[in-house]
Amino acid sequence: MEAARIASFLLLLAGVVWSRAQPGAEAAGTTVFTLRNNCTFTIWPATLSGNSAVAVGGGGFELAPGANVSFPGPTGWSGRLWARTGCVAAASGASLACATGDCGGAVRCTLGGAPPVTLAEFTLGGADGKDFYDVSLVDGYNVGIGVAATGARVNSSTCGYAGCVGDVNALCPAELQVAGKEGDQEGKTVACRSACEAFGTAEYCCTGAHGGPNSCGPTKYSRLFKAACPAAYSYAYDDPTSTFTCGAGAQYLITFCPAQQ
Ligand SMILES: *[C@@H]1O[C@H](CO)[C@@H](O)[C@H](O)[C@H]1NC(C)=O
Ligand SMILES: *[C@@H]1O[C@H](CO)[C@@H](O)[C@H](O)[C@H]1NC(C)=O
Ligand SMILES: *[C@@H]1O[C@H](CO)[C@@H](O)[C@H](O)[C@H]1NC(C)=O
Repeated sequence: MEAARIASFLLLLAGVVWSRAQPGAEAAGTTVFTLRNNCTFTIWPATLSGNSAVAVGGGGFELAPGANVSFPGPTGWSGRLWARTGCVAAASGASLACATGDCGGAVRCTLGGAPPVTLAEFTLGGADGKDFYDVSLVDGYNVGIGVAATGARVNSSTCGYAGCVGDVNALCPAELQVAGKEGDQEGKTVACRSACEAFGTAEYCCTGAHGGPNSCGPTKYSRLFKAACPAAYSYAYDDPTSTFTCGAGAQYLITFCPAQQ
């Protein structure tokens, strides 16, 4: 076979292996992310690497209500995962327009999601070989995300449940609400902006005179996010209890629209 044919055969094989990598599948020595859609609607999960060219989960895919998908996260990978909602795919399949979390219209993201968007952030095999993770509302909120660690290396004192079980859209103040524009989402609150994005002031963005942990405190808006989601970052310098740490080799179940831990 010519090189190009061999390459396309290998890609096909990789696709088959990836699509068969259903929950529970594990590659030795590698973290496995399992994403579960507990929302009542279809979402398009997305991933973006912060430090490498490796796009875990291919960068983005469709996930039906009740469905799960698993894929490996290589040691040393650092990046974010989020959900896109209200998406309409082009007939060609080449592009995707989403009401929330859109990454420049791509199916497989190479850019971050447009805020407001809830983020799950990971560093695998960071300092001392440990994993670090958190759920952040610093860029606002679109759907709840819960991160639960499982596996032999889980230390329950540090390796806890991160995320947001409360529905922030239901509690979102009018001045931060984003209303849906299409179909049955029209007029409903589909996302809740961060105060930084909505007002752009140094106090809310932790910039300028407020550009440090000692000069940027919680605000009435971040307190509202924190009350709904105590185990998530509500503003840039939120308390360090929002970051979790696991020994290398833990597995992660990331549930969208969790109703329980
Ligand atoms: C997804 O995973 C959850 C939790 O492990 C399980 O209860 C559920 O049946 C799974 N759904 C599918 C479609 O495999
Ligand atoms: C769990 O983490 C705590 C706090 O970092 C540490 O003191 C303890 O030794 C760890 N336990 C294990 C089994 O790693
Ligand atoms: C999924 O959502 C249902 C309600 O919509 C809830 O009863 C169930 O506990 C949720 N599952 C998880 C894992 O959060």
